[in-house]
Amino acid sequence: MISKQTIDKIFSTIRVEEIVGEYVQLKRAGSNYKGLSPFHDEKTPSFVVSASKQIWKDFSTGKGGTAISFLMEIENFTYPEALRHAAKKYGIEIEEDQKDFSEEAKNAQSERDLLYKIHEIANDFYQNFLWEVEEGKAIGLSYFKERELRDDIIRKFQLGYSPEKKNAFTEFALEKGYSKEILEKSGLSIFPENSPAGIDRFRERVIFPIHSFSGRVLGFGARILKNNVKTAKYLNSPETEIYHKSNVLYGLNQSKQAISRKNVCLLVEGYMDVISLHMSGIENVVASSGTSLTTEQIKLIKRLTENVTILFDGDNAGIKASFRSIDMLLTEGMNIRVMLFPDGDDPDSFARKHPQEYVEKFIENEAMDFIDFKAEILFREIGDDPIKRAEAIRDIVKSVSFVQNALKREVYLKQVSTKFGLSEQSLFNELDVQKQITQNQTQHIQQRETHKPAKLEVVPKQSELEIDSVQFNILHQENKLIDTMLMFGDMVLQRKNDAHEQYEVTVIEEILHHFEEEGYEFQIETNKKIIQNIKEGIEHDELRAGNFFITLMDEDITSKVADALMIPDELSDWSTRNIFPPNLGDHIADEVEANILIHKYYYIHFLIKKVTAELEEYRDTDTEKYFESIKKIMMLNQFSIKLVDKLGWSPITKI
Ligand code: UTP
Ligand code: MN
Repeated sequence: MISKQTIDKIFSTIRVEEIVGEYVQLKRAGSNYKGLSPFHDEKTPSFVVSASKQIWKDFSTGKGGTAISFLMEIENFTYPEALRHAAKKYGIEIEEDQKDFSEEAKNAQSERDLLYKIHEIANDFYQNFLWEVEEGKAIGLSYFKERELRDDIIRKFQLGYSPEKKNAFTEFALEKGYSKEILEKSGLSIFPENSPAGIDRFRERVIFPIHSFSGRVLGFGARILKNNVKTAKYLNSPETEIYHKSNVLYGLNQSKQAISRKNVCLLVEGYMDVISLHMSGIENVVASSGTSLTTEQIKLIKRLTENVTILFDGDNAGIKASFRSIDMLLTEGMNIRVMLFPDGDDPDSFARKHPQEYVEKFIENEAMDFIDFKAEILFREIGDDPIKRAEAIRDIVKSVSFVQNALKREVYLKQVSTKFGLSEQSLFNELDVQKQITQNQTQHIQQRETHKPAKLEVVPKQSELEIDSVQFNILHQENKLIDTMLMFGDMVLQRKNDAHEQYEVTVIEEILHHFEEEGYEFQIETNKKIIQNIKEGIEHDELRAGNFFITLMDEDITSKVADALMIPDELSDWSTRNIFPPNLGDHIADEVEANILIHKYYYIHFLIKKVTAELEEYRDTDTEKYFESIKKIMMLNQFSIKLVDKLGWSPITKI
């Protein structure tokens, strides 16, 4: 692992304009540089580099970040890879955090190496059998030809054939000097008591090697050729030391460049869907291999793009199962579209029937956003039944609740409100209930445990909704303030104190001051971590805003920061939505002030709820505390009225 000192050194040495300058022709434009986006074909420059802030922003794709994140984007580097690359360019020596590898760790490493090696050998073996051996040509190759695969595509995906003979590969590998033990660990052979010569896992099947992101063979999928045999159509490698199914996407290695260039990843179900699309020239596609997506798989895609289009055949029984994948993708901050193929076509058959351009246009035009997609699927069956309609809308709002970025979430909620003609307020209430049920499940359970469980059960449904809505508002506003700190933290605000003297304060300081003054307890762990870090920074006399956090190793924090720094596309039309980019400094000053007051307001109501709950407990047990609580509530209500006044809300304004 690269040491923190080295990372700091790299970030303080490298210059974003120099690193970007190697890929993009930059011209000075005021205090910034401008150029043509390297991620998008364009004629007018929309790619901006700020030398003073040391960040870049591509307004055509919405991407942006530091010099290191630029390298990650353009070279598809991982974070450490990008750091090493930058260090090399600037002659910075990399200090590794010293961790002595144990003997055990070394052995494990060499075992992994052996497993990689044996998969390479097997991959060659199966391909050789397909192209060179009579049995392979007659059965395997002719099967691929029947499915109209071209030679170059068979080679590109390194497809192969495993012979009928019981131990053909095992024998071959043993002869090459591989041990029974490693063969067994690879999952390619088994050695039952009664068959000491071993048995191949894959026999009489066509072989689809499964590659890692960087192109190493990790395992195989193998398709049966006879239709009448009663075993699974595909047999796959088992989990091994090097093959973890949930960390791998089929086709990623062959598709990664196209995914990054097109800035969208098509997601299909099967091996053949990936291969057929490639054959028709559509190369930005991966397969989840028939299962629901995992977080790790989404992170792999996210290295290349944040846009995913899921492709389905129209009468696919698994469509509802895909709802889970949609929620997973949203949780990881991805933008999703979904496409249903007509008339029993799947991506494979559709791509073989139509020319590339037609397929591309079709996907482009027919793909729906997740809200429309879920609505179409859910509403298909239910007709006019109002209760079922409500259920369906609830289901859609549940998906919206998975959207991490608060601003995007609001935009989606507006869309739902327009689409179904519902008030935004009722949807916000619903959203907040759903958030409680889904994302904050653990928190919810903890709350149940600390409160008296018997009590919660007697709370009528309506007021449970209210508790949730208070909770939601406070979470929402907490996030808003943290996002503001991350985005505009180092901006200097001109303020006047009570004696009307002018003073300067940064956005970070002002918001932090507010949190401390309130003794505010953070509802979200990541926010708490960010604030702790900011405080540490202030103790060291350094201002820690957005870019600082990008250099941290903490995944939660960096992804949150990236989310905050990356301005959502939907909101690019700033001024109409009352959200203001950094160059409109005056508005930021007003925004911060208002958002602090709103947060205060929500927090007061959060506290009122809390004290009200206590009140119930004291009613029959402790008269003194009971009246104390009542006094507290009255005081809080006074504050609340003052705040409403300050905010200029009319008394009936509902939030
Ligand atoms: P499909 O049945 O759609 O496979 O299953 P396919 O790739 O389109 O294959 P063809 O067209 O019949 O040749 C989708 C995916 O589900 C997994 C495989 O990863 C497959 O690609 N699967 C399916 C299995 O792992 N085992 C099975 O028995 C079936
Ligand atoms: Mn198929």
